Amino acid sequence: MQLSVKHLLGIRELTPQDIQLILDTAKEFKEVLQRPIKKVPSLRDVTIVNLFFENSTRTRISFELAEKRLSADTINFTAGSSSVKKGESLLDTVNNILSMKVDMVVMRHSATGAPHFLAQHIPAAIINAGDGINEHPTQGLLDAFSMVEKFGTLEGLKVAIIGDIMHSRVAMSNMYLLKKMGAEVTLAGPPTLIPKYVQEAFDVRVEYNLKKALEWCDVANVLRIQLERQNQVLFSTLREYNLSYGINKNILDNLNKEIVVMHPGPINRGVELDSDVADSKQSIILQQVENGVAVRMAALYLLSGNKPVTS
Ligand code: CP
Repeated sequence: MQLSVKHLLGIRELTPQDIQLILDTAKEFKEVLQRPIKKVPSLRDVTIVNLFFENSTRTRISFELAEKRLSADTINFTAGSSSVKKGESLLDTVNNILSMKVDMVVMRHSATGAPHFLAQHIPAAIINAGDGINEHPTQGLLDAFSMVEKFGTLEGLKVAIIGDIMHSRVAMSNMYLLKKMGAEVTLAGPPTLIPKYVQEAFDVRVEYNLKKALEWCDVANVLRIQLERQNQVLFSTLREYNLSYGINKNILDNLNKEIVVMHPGPINRGVELDSDVADSKQSIILQQVENGVAVRMAALYLLSGNKPVTS
Protein backbone atom coordinates (compact mmCIF):
# COMPACT_ATOMS: atom_id res chain seq x y z
CA MET A 1 0.00 0.00 0.00
CA GLN A 2 1.04 3.58 -0.59
CA LEU A 3 0.15 6.93 0.93
CA SER A 4 -2.25 9.10 -1.08
CA VAL A 5 0.09 12.09 -0.62
CA LYS A 6 3.59 12.93 -1.85
CA HIS A 7 4.41 15.14 1.15
CA LEU A 8 3.41 14.97 4.82
CA LEU A 9 2.31 18.58 5.26
CA GLY A 10 -0.48 17.96 7.73
CA ILE A 11 -2.99 15.43 9.01
CA ARG A 12 -5.62 17.53 7.24
CA GLU A 13 -4.48 16.16 3.86
CA LEU A 14 -4.40 12.49 4.98
CA THR A 15 -7.16 9.91 4.57
CA PRO A 16 -8.04 7.55 7.44
CA GLN A 17 -6.35 4.83 5.34
CA ASP A 18 -3.13 6.90 5.17
CA ILE A 19 -3.19 7.37 8.95
CA GLN A 20 -3.78 3.65 9.54
CA LEU A 21 -0.94 2.76 7.13
CA ILE A 22 1.49 5.02 8.98
CA LEU A 23 0.42 3.62 12.38
CA ASP A 24 0.71 0.00 11.13
CA THR A 25 4.12 0.66 9.59
CA ALA A 26 5.26 2.39 12.79
CA LYS A 27 4.29 -0.74 14.74
CA GLU A 28 6.63 -2.79 12.54
CA PHE A 29 9.43 -0.29 13.05
CA LYS A 30 8.84 -0.25 16.81
CA GLU A 31 9.53 -4.00 16.76
CA VAL A 32 12.75 -3.33 14.86
CA LEU A 33 13.74 -0.83 17.56
CA GLN A 34 13.46 -3.55 20.24
CA ARG A 35 16.10 -5.68 18.48
CA PRO A 36 19.80 -5.69 19.52
CA ILE A 37 20.61 -4.27 16.07
CA LYS A 38 18.12 -1.45 15.57
CA LYS A 39 19.13 -0.51 12.05
CA VAL A 40 17.53 -1.53 8.72
CA PRO A 41 18.79 -0.73 5.21
CA SER A 42 15.42 0.63 3.96
CA LEU A 43 16.67 4.15 3.11
CA ARG A 44 20.24 3.36 2.14
CA ASP A 45 21.39 5.84 -0.54
CA VAL A 46 18.58 8.27 0.42
CA THR A 47 19.82 11.67 1.64
CA ILE A 48 17.63 13.70 3.99
CA VAL A 49 18.12 17.26 5.22
CA ASN A 50 16.62 18.34 8.54
CA LEU A 51 15.90 22.05 8.17
CA PHE A 52 15.13 23.61 11.53
CA PHE A 53 14.29 27.31 11.43
CA GLU A 54 12.83 27.10 14.95
CA ASN A 55 14.08 25.48 18.16
CA SER A 56 13.42 21.82 18.87
CA THR A 57 14.70 19.05 21.11
CA ARG A 58 12.42 16.02 20.68
CA THR A 59 11.35 16.36 17.03
CA ARG A 60 14.78 17.10 15.69
CA ILE A 61 16.59 14.33 17.56
CA SER A 62 13.76 11.91 16.83
CA PHE A 63 13.91 12.58 13.07
CA GLU A 64 17.68 12.30 13.02
CA LEU A 65 17.56 9.02 14.92
CA ALA A 66 14.77 7.70 12.67
CA GLU A 67 16.85 8.54 9.58
CA LYS A 68 19.95 6.84 11.01
CA ARG A 69 17.93 3.74 11.99
CA LEU A 70 16.75 3.57 8.35
CA SER A 71 20.38 3.91 7.08
CA ALA A 72 19.69 7.23 5.36
CA ASP A 73 22.40 9.89 5.00
CA THR A 74 21.45 12.83 7.20
CA ILE A 75 22.32 16.51 7.08
CA ASN A 76 21.31 18.92 9.84
CA PHE A 77 20.66 22.57 9.10
CA THR A 78 20.09 25.21 11.76
CA ALA A 79 18.94 28.61 10.56
CA GLY A 80 20.81 30.47 13.30
CA SER A 81 24.22 29.37 12.00
CA SER A 82 23.40 29.55 8.27
CA SER A 83 23.39 32.10 5.46
CA VAL A 84 19.73 32.84 6.30
CA LYS A 85 21.37 35.27 8.72
CA LYS A 86 22.88 37.05 5.66
CA GLY A 87 19.45 37.45 4.07
CA GLU A 88 19.18 34.28 1.94
CA SER A 89 15.55 33.34 1.23
CA LEU A 90 13.90 30.06 2.20
CA LEU A 91 13.57 28.96 -1.42
CA ASP A 92 17.19 29.83 -2.29
CA THR A 93 18.40 28.04 0.82
CA VAL A 94 16.47 24.87 0.00
CA ASN A 95 17.31 24.89 -3.72
CA ASN A 96 21.02 25.20 -2.90
CA ILE A 97 20.79 22.25 -0.53
CA LEU A 98 18.81 20.17 -3.05
CA SER A 99 21.41 20.85 -5.77
CA MET A 100 23.76 18.73 -3.65
CA LYS A 101 21.54 15.72 -4.46
CA VAL A 102 19.35 15.69 -1.36
CA ASP A 103 16.22 13.54 -1.70
CA MET A 104 13.92 14.51 1.18
CA VAL A 105 13.35 17.54 3.39
CA VAL A 106 12.18 17.60 7.01
CA MET A 107 11.32 21.16 7.96
CA ARG A 108 10.26 23.13 11.05
CA HIS A 109 9.45 26.78 10.53
CA SER A 110 7.78 29.48 12.61
CA ALA A 111 5.79 30.66 9.56
CA THR A 112 2.47 28.90 9.05
CA GLY A 113 2.41 27.40 5.54
CA ALA A 114 6.18 27.43 4.95
CA PRO A 115 6.33 23.70 4.04
CA HIS A 116 3.24 24.07 1.83
CA PHE A 117 4.99 26.90 -0.04
CA LEU A 118 8.12 24.79 -0.49
CA ALA A 119 6.07 21.82 -1.74
CA GLN A 120 4.90 23.95 -4.67
CA HIS A 121 8.44 24.84 -5.69
CA ILE A 122 10.73 21.85 -5.13
CA PRO A 123 10.66 18.24 -6.36
CA ALA A 124 11.75 16.60 -3.07
CA ALA A 125 9.30 15.03 -0.60
CA ILE A 126 8.72 17.28 2.42
CA ILE A 127 7.76 16.34 5.97
CA ASN A 128 6.38 19.15 8.09
CA ALA A 129 8.04 19.04 11.53
CA GLY A 130 5.83 21.90 12.75
CA ASP A 131 4.80 25.11 10.95
CA GLY A 132 3.80 28.09 13.06
CA ILE A 133 0.41 27.54 14.67
CA ASN A 134 -0.80 25.30 11.84
CA GLU A 135 0.14 21.61 12.18
CA HIS A 136 2.69 19.20 13.64
CA PRO A 137 1.62 16.02 11.86
CA THR A 138 4.23 13.59 13.20
CA GLN A 139 3.36 14.70 16.76
CA GLY A 140 -0.31 13.98 16.03
CA LEU A 141 0.66 10.56 14.66
CA LEU A 142 2.91 9.65 17.58
CA ASP A 143 0.20 10.76 20.01
CA ALA A 144 -2.29 8.53 18.18
CA PHE A 145 0.18 5.63 18.12
CA SER A 146 0.66 5.99 21.89
CA MET A 147 -3.11 6.06 22.50
CA VAL A 148 -3.62 2.94 20.36
CA GLU A 149 -0.80 1.22 22.23
CA LYS A 150 -2.54 2.01 25.52
CA PHE A 151 -6.21 1.52 24.59
CA GLY A 152 -6.13 -0.72 21.47
CA THR A 153 -8.19 1.65 19.30
CA LEU A 154 -9.02 5.30 18.69
CA GLU A 155 -12.63 4.49 17.82
CA GLY A 156 -14.83 5.91 20.59
CA LEU A 157 -11.84 6.98 22.73
CA LYS A 158 -12.56 10.15 24.75
CA VAL A 159 -9.66 12.58 24.45
CA ALA A 160 -9.49 15.94 26.24
CA ILE A 161 -7.00 18.40 24.75
CA ILE A 162 -6.27 20.90 27.50
CA GLY A 163 -4.57 24.30 27.50
CA ASP A 164 -3.42 26.75 24.86
CA ILE A 165 -5.45 25.44 21.91
CA MET A 166 -5.22 28.75 20.05
CA HIS A 167 -1.45 28.63 19.49
CA SER A 168 -1.04 24.88 19.29
CA ARG A 169 -0.17 23.04 16.07
CA VAL A 170 -0.23 19.87 18.18
CA ALA A 171 -3.89 20.50 19.03
CA MET A 172 -4.68 21.08 15.35
CA SER A 173 -3.02 17.84 14.18
CA ASN A 174 -4.61 15.90 17.06
CA MET A 175 -8.07 17.24 16.24
CA TYR A 176 -7.82 16.34 12.55
CA LEU A 177 -6.47 12.88 13.31
CA LEU A 178 -8.73 11.94 16.20
CA LYS A 179 -11.89 13.00 14.40
CA LYS A 180 -10.86 11.16 11.20
CA MET A 181 -10.25 8.00 13.25
CA GLY A 182 -13.51 8.03 15.22
CA ALA A 183 -12.40 9.40 18.61
CA GLU A 184 -14.41 11.92 20.64
CA VAL A 185 -12.65 15.19 21.44
CA THR A 186 -13.21 17.84 24.11
CA LEU A 187 -11.14 21.02 24.15
CA ALA A 188 -10.60 22.49 27.61
CA GLY A 189 -8.98 25.70 28.79
CA PRO A 190 -9.69 29.39 29.32
CA PRO A 191 -12.16 30.85 26.78
CA THR A 192 -9.43 33.24 25.56
CA LEU A 193 -7.23 30.30 24.49
CA ILE A 194 -9.92 28.33 22.58
CA PRO A 195 -10.80 29.89 19.20
CA LYS A 196 -14.55 30.24 18.67
CA TYR A 197 -14.57 28.54 15.25
CA VAL A 198 -13.08 25.19 16.30
CA GLN A 199 -16.16 23.67 17.93
CA GLU A 200 -18.15 23.70 14.70
CA ALA A 201 -15.23 23.27 12.30
CA PHE A 202 -13.98 20.09 14.00
CA ASP A 203 -17.21 18.83 15.59
CA VAL A 204 -15.59 18.84 19.05
CA ARG A 205 -16.90 19.75 22.50
CA VAL A 206 -15.60 22.75 24.44
CA GLU A 207 -15.41 22.72 28.23
CA TYR A 208 -14.12 25.60 30.33
CA ASN A 209 -14.24 23.63 33.58
CA LEU A 210 -11.09 21.50 33.97
CA LYS A 211 -12.62 19.03 36.45
CA LYS A 212 -15.57 18.30 34.12
CA ALA A 213 -13.23 17.71 31.17
CA LEU A 214 -11.10 15.33 33.23
CA GLU A 215 -14.17 13.47 34.57
CA TRP A 216 -15.30 12.94 30.95
CA CYS A 217 -12.07 11.78 29.28
CA ASP A 218 -10.02 8.60 29.01
CA VAL A 219 -6.92 10.59 28.01
CA ALA A 220 -5.85 14.14 28.79
CA ASN A 221 -3.41 15.55 26.24
CA VAL A 222 -2.05 18.58 28.08
CA LEU A 223 -0.50 21.50 26.18
CA ARG A 224 2.06 24.12 27.07
CA ILE A 225 1.14 27.81 27.26
CA GLN A 226 3.01 29.17 24.25
CA LEU A 227 4.00 32.57 25.59
CA GLU A 228 6.41 33.06 22.66
CA ARG A 229 3.44 33.11 20.23
CA GLN A 230 1.23 35.41 22.29
CA ASN A 231 1.33 39.15 21.64
CA GLN A 232 -1.60 40.06 23.89
CA VAL A 233 -2.67 39.27 27.44
CA LEU A 234 -4.90 36.17 27.24
CA PHE A 235 -4.87 35.25 30.94
CA SER A 236 -3.76 37.02 34.10
CA THR A 237 -0.65 35.20 35.36
CA LEU A 238 0.92 31.76 35.00
CA ARG A 239 0.19 31.23 38.72
CA GLU A 240 -3.51 31.89 38.15
CA TYR A 241 -3.48 29.65 35.07
CA ASN A 242 -2.02 26.88 37.22
CA LEU A 243 -4.72 27.37 39.86
CA SER A 244 -7.54 27.09 37.28
CA TYR A 245 -6.15 24.72 34.66
CA GLY A 246 -2.96 23.17 36.05
CA ILE A 247 -3.21 19.42 36.62
CA ASN A 248 -1.84 17.98 39.85
CA LYS A 249 -2.08 14.64 41.66
CA ASN A 250 -4.80 15.87 44.00
CA ILE A 251 -7.09 16.64 41.06
CA LEU A 252 -6.46 13.26 39.43
CA ASP A 253 -6.92 11.35 42.70
CA ASN A 254 -10.37 12.91 43.13
CA LEU A 255 -11.68 11.81 39.70
CA ASN A 256 -14.07 8.88 39.43
CA LYS A 257 -11.54 6.90 37.29
CA GLU A 258 -7.85 6.70 36.42
CA ILE A 259 -7.07 8.62 33.24
CA VAL A 260 -3.93 8.63 31.09
CA VAL A 261 -1.93 11.88 30.88
CA MET A 262 -0.02 12.92 27.77
CA HIS A 263 2.03 16.00 26.89
CA PRO A 264 3.95 16.72 23.66
CA GLY A 265 6.73 18.54 25.53
CA PRO A 266 8.43 20.71 26.44
CA ILE A 267 6.59 20.77 29.80
CA ASN A 268 6.36 23.94 31.86
CA ARG A 269 6.30 22.17 35.22
CA GLY A 270 4.14 23.93 37.77
CA VAL A 271 2.10 25.68 35.06
CA GLU A 272 0.01 23.22 33.00
CA LEU A 273 1.31 20.10 34.74
CA ASP A 274 2.76 19.51 38.18
CA SER A 275 5.70 17.14 38.63
CA ASP A 276 3.63 14.73 40.74
CA VAL A 277 1.60 14.06 37.57
CA ALA A 278 4.27 14.43 34.88
CA ASP A 279 6.42 11.78 36.57
CA SER A 280 3.57 9.52 37.73
CA LYS A 281 2.50 6.13 36.39
CA GLN A 282 -0.53 7.80 34.79
CA SER A 283 1.80 9.77 32.53
CA ILE A 284 2.93 8.24 29.20
CA ILE A 285 4.97 11.28 28.20
CA LEU A 286 8.27 9.43 27.74
CA GLN A 287 6.53 6.59 25.85
CA GLN A 288 5.27 9.28 23.45
CA VAL A 289 8.86 10.39 22.87
CA GLU A 290 10.00 6.79 22.38
CA ASN A 291 7.18 6.15 19.88
CA GLY A 292 8.13 9.26 17.93
CA VAL A 293 11.16 7.50 16.44
CA ALA A 294 9.11 4.57 15.06
CA VAL A 295 6.39 6.89 13.75
CA ARG A 296 8.94 9.11 12.00
CA MET A 297 10.66 6.04 10.53
CA ALA A 298 7.27 5.04 9.12
CA ALA A 299 6.60 8.49 7.65
CA LEU A 300 10.08 8.73 6.09
CA TYR A 301 9.91 5.20 4.73
CA LEU A 302 6.44 5.57 3.20
CA LEU A 303 7.26 8.94 1.61
CA SER A 304 10.56 7.73 0.17
CA GLY A 305 8.77 5.41 -2.27
CA ASN A 306 8.60 1.64 -2.18
CA LYS A 307 11.72 -0.19 -1.16
CA PRO A 308 12.07 -3.45 0.79
CA VAL A 309 10.58 -2.98 4.30
CA THR A 310 12.14 -3.95 7.60
CA SER A 311 14.53 -6.80 6.74
N1 CP B 1 6.92 18.10 20.89
C1 CP B 1 7.82 18.87 20.24
O1 CP B 1 7.62 19.25 19.09
O2 CP B 1 8.94 19.13 20.97
P1 CP B 1 10.19 19.95 20.40
O3 CP B 1 9.75 21.36 20.21
O4 CP B 1 11.26 19.81 21.46
O5 CP B 1 10.59 19.31 19.10
